Amino acid sequence: MSKVTVVGAGNVGATVANVLAHKDIVKEIVLLDIVGDLARGKALDSWQQAPIDYYSTKLVGTSDYKDTADSDIVVITAGIPRKPGMSRDDLISTNANIVVSVVKSILEHSKDPIIIVVSNPLDVMTYAAYKASGLPASKVMGMAGILDTARYRAFLATELNVSPKDIQAVLMGGHGDTMVPLPRYTTVAGIPVTELVDAAKLDAIVERTKSGGGELVKLMGTSAWYAPGAAAAQMVEAIVKDENRIFPVCTLMEGHYGLNGIFVGAPVTLGTGGIKKVIELKLNADELALLNDSASAVKEVMDVFDNM
Ligand code: NAI
Ligand code: 2OP
Repeated sequence: MSKVTVVGAGNVGATVANVLAHKDIVKEIVLLDIVGDLARGKALDSWQQAPIDYYSTKLVGTSDYKDTADSDIVVITAGIPRKPGMSRDDLISTNANIVVSVVKSILEHSKDPIIIVVSNPLDVMTYAAYKASGLPASKVMGMAGILDTARYRAFLATELNVSPKDIQAVLMGGHGDTMVPLPRYTTVAGIPVTELVDAAKLDAIVERTKSGGGELVKLMGTSAWYAPGAAAAQMVEAIVKDENRIFPVCTLMEGHYGLNGIFVGAPVTLGTGGIKKVIELKLNADELALLNDSASAVKEVMDVFDNM
């Protein structure tokens, strides 16, 4: 059974650990934070939930990378939110330094783990982890697409008054306001969404999805954690159980969609070993143009990282 490390025991990291423990599919979850007592406290709290919710997954909180030894999968949620007076580039450099140092420390104790990045700005932090790790692209990926697609699916479920379970959708591009929800690839129990929701309403839902993260920041004064944590745990589950799930995941484009060397969200199959395949949809000209715009926006931020 697998060992999973979650770095960053803040809102998202603690949720990843807690949701994953409830799935009862891995042997051990190590929750690591520079604030060691925070990690120890949250791991202990989750462990004390085990007799109530019936799971056996062991939870360990720590600030010592030795405890992460031989991890099969590492989820990185460490980072700081943007603070007043901080430029976007300052945030990139602060969080990139954190992600790079986390990756290096992890690799001192685990040979070739699969790395799932959650820290923002997501696409460039995934790129930073990829570069710092020297691991193959199939093993370094970012979580954003499952979350963004879930928001889109949840908004559609509300609009149609149907179960969110019945909404299937694909969303591509970077994790930001250039993301590309794809109504042409959205179905409600197999029915094309365009037969059920008129164009104006669908447009409004697409726009709300693009600013879905910001909507929650406005409401809570900080960014979301329940859906992000569950999304990262779902990626871990697909890998651990070799499910070959098809999810939108931030991954390296190597000629896919005409893009090269850029990390953006695209549908992939996820199972043992990480990303098995990037799926190439037959996008129309409009969809491709939106994806290219999104990739260009991500590339600008990647360049900031490269020039740091
Ligand atoms: P948080 O502030 O609650 O937690 C971050 C944790 O990272 C803190 O406990 C902090 O002590 C820890 N940390 C900082 N530097 C560290 C280091 N060098 N080593 C180990 N731990 C370190 O933040 P939250 O809400 O959990 O968000 C975490 C990150 O995830 C943020 O960058 C956020 O923007 C991002 N995020 C990404 C989403 C996505 O869809 N990809 C969705 C939601 C959040
Ligand atoms: C979110 O989309 C802020 O990336 C974070 O909730």
